Order: sequence, then structure tokens, then C-alpha cells
Amino acid sequence: TTEELEERVREIKGKLGKKLFIPGHHYQKDEVIQFADATGDSLKLAQLSAENKDAEHVVFCGVHFMAEIADILTTKEQKVYLPDMRAGCSMADMADIFQTERAWNKLTELFGDTILPLTYVNSTAEIKSFVGKHGGATVTSSNAEKMVRWAFEKKERLLFLPDQHLGRNTAYNIGIGLDEMAVWNPISNELEFSGLIEEVKVILWKGHCSVHENFTVENIRQVRETYPDMKIIVHPECRREVVALSDMAGSTNYIIDAIYGSPSGSSWAVGTEMNLVNRIIQEHPDKQIISLNPHMCPCLTMNRIDLPHLVWCLEAIELGSSHNRIEVDGHIADNAKKALNRMLELS
Ligand code: 13P
Ligand code: SF4
Repeated sequence: TTEELEERVREIKGKLGKKLFIPGHHYQKDEVIQFADATGDSLKLAQLSAENKDAEHVVFCGVHFMAEIADILTTKEQKVYLPDMRAGCSMADMADIFQTERAWNKLTELFGDTILPLTYVNSTAEIKSFVGKHGGATVTSSNAEKMVRWAFEKKERLLFLPDQHLGRNTAYNIGIGLDEMAVWNPISNELEFSGLIEEVKVILWKGHCSVHENFTVENIRQVRETYPDMKIIVHPECRREVVALSDMAGSTNYIIDAIYGSPSGSSWAVGTEMNLVNRIIQEHPDKQIISLNPHMCPCLTMNRIDLPHLVWCLEAIELGSSHNRIEVDGHIADNAKKALNRMLELS
């Protein structure tokens, strides 16, 4: 039963004490997040992983790329686990290293040594390693503007992997025109751009989040019509048109802070993952909060981490098994760590 599973988690947590650390991303299910020792967005969880030197076992309740980051930033003695290995991220899978090397060859032929690569943390360790090797850095949705400005201090143009929407929204916010942004299509291995090639400042990898792309201009129109006083707040993984028509846009933590800091009686339509939106709704009975898209689903891969998988993973640790370990190869981890540290130093 659920009660028995919950009791097992409590028992093992009690037994392992400080040797066990469970970070949980805001998009995780309630049945899992209730056992997290720390919750946060991807930046906060990366920072916590870098700081925590006590835990021998880090059971990451999030998706694969987050567990890889934790493994890269913790010591060799610390072990990182993902309770369900199928908990990937469709966006991270949209840029593989073969496609990226192939793109880089073409882009450096076109632009010479004038490009710096940046990657959203929602990418594989191999992509982070590629970016680290070429002098670039990772970004999260909470520091993307700062990192894009940093990149422009170093080079004239940048390649932004793998989320075109976060890349476009961020570049737009710091004053880059939409007509100065090209899209790199990794399938056709071609640049999608109709203007003068030398005017390109940002090359956006053609990837997206399958959850945040579901918020549409039509959703915004309906909310404005039904609730004219409602504030619309969205994550920058949403399309440019959606962000442009919203009142506010920012990372998971930005959304949480804005709604938590708003006075009683405020009303919000939120464009982000459903587990988080439902939690915000439950915690604010004094506010009117809805999802921007009434037919929205949670992130299916985040949802793969459930209570039975958490228990299974913890029981394996108790038995000394290395089931579900996430171990990034040393040569990949070294360069990936450079890219992550360039971000963490500035955050
Ligand atoms: P943040 O946690 O940085 O807001 O990212 C959202 C996300 O999609 C994580 O997968
Ligand atoms: Fe990936 Fe989007 Fe799910 Fe985040 S919400 S893990 S970006 S698919």
C-alpha cells in the first residue's frame, strides 16, 4: 500500500541519516517531493549538488540530465542515483553530440572563430562537454540573460543549444533583433535564415520542450477574454509569441516567487508544468490560480519518478547495490564541469 511504501522511505531515510541526500525538482510529483531534503529549480539543485560534501548517496528526483549534473559536481566518493532510468528529457534528446559536431563544422566554416557555444543545462553531459571544450558555458532559465551577455563579451555571435525558445526569448530581452537570429536545423544540417548571413548574432538550435510548447496564443486569448484582470505568467521555454503576450516570464523559481509574493485575492494563469501548478494552487487557497492551458498534462518523464521507484532505488542502496547509478565518464565530465563552473561562478 501507499502507507507501507511511505513507511519504507522513512525507515531508510532514518537509517542512512546524513549519508543520504534527496534533491527534488519542482516538477516532481507530490508523492515524491514530500521526501525531498531540498527542492528547487535546476540552478538551485546544481548549486546544492556542488556544495554538499556529506552525502554518500544522492538520490536525484528529477530527470537524467539533472542527475548527470549532480554526478559531475559531486566528489568521486559520492554516488548519484536516478530512481527510474527512463526519466529522460525530450528536449535534451534533441541535440546529440554527432549532430552538434557536424553543425559546429559547418558553422565555423561560415563564421570562423567568431562563435561561442552556450547550452541550456537541459542537455546531455556530452553536449556540456563539447561546450566546455570550446570555451562556452551552461545556462539555466534563471541566469540565461547574464550568461548570454557574458558570451557576447567574448565573441560576436553565439550558438544556443538545445532550446530555441529560451534562446530566442533571452536574446530578445537583451536587445537582439529577431532578424538577427537564425535557426540551426539539426536534421537537415542547415541554417534556416533568410537575411544577410554576416548579420546573424544568435544561432538557435531547433529544439523545444514538449511540455511548454503546448501553451499557445489561443490559450492567452481565452484567458484574457474570460478573466480580464488575471495576470499571465509563463516559463521562457514557451514560444516567443506566448511570452510576448504574457504579463511576466521567468524561471520556475521566478514564477513561484511572483505568486507567493502576491497579495491575497490575486489571480494568475500559469504557463508551466502541471505538477508545479497544482502544488501552487493547493498552497494558495486565498488566490485564484489556473493553468494557462486547461488541457495541460504534467511532464511525462518527470512523472516517471514515483513512490514505488523511489522505494526500489532506496532499497537497492540499503542492500549495497549500484542499481540506477548515474556515472558520467571522466573525460566527458572534465569539460562538462568547466562549462558548469563558468555558470556557477557567475550565478
Ligand atoms: P528550471 O528548473 O530551470 O525552471 O527549468 C525548467 C525545466 O524544464 C526543467 O526541466
Ligand atoms: Fe524536459 Fe520539458 Fe520535461 Fe523539463 S519539462 S524535463 S525541459 S520535457
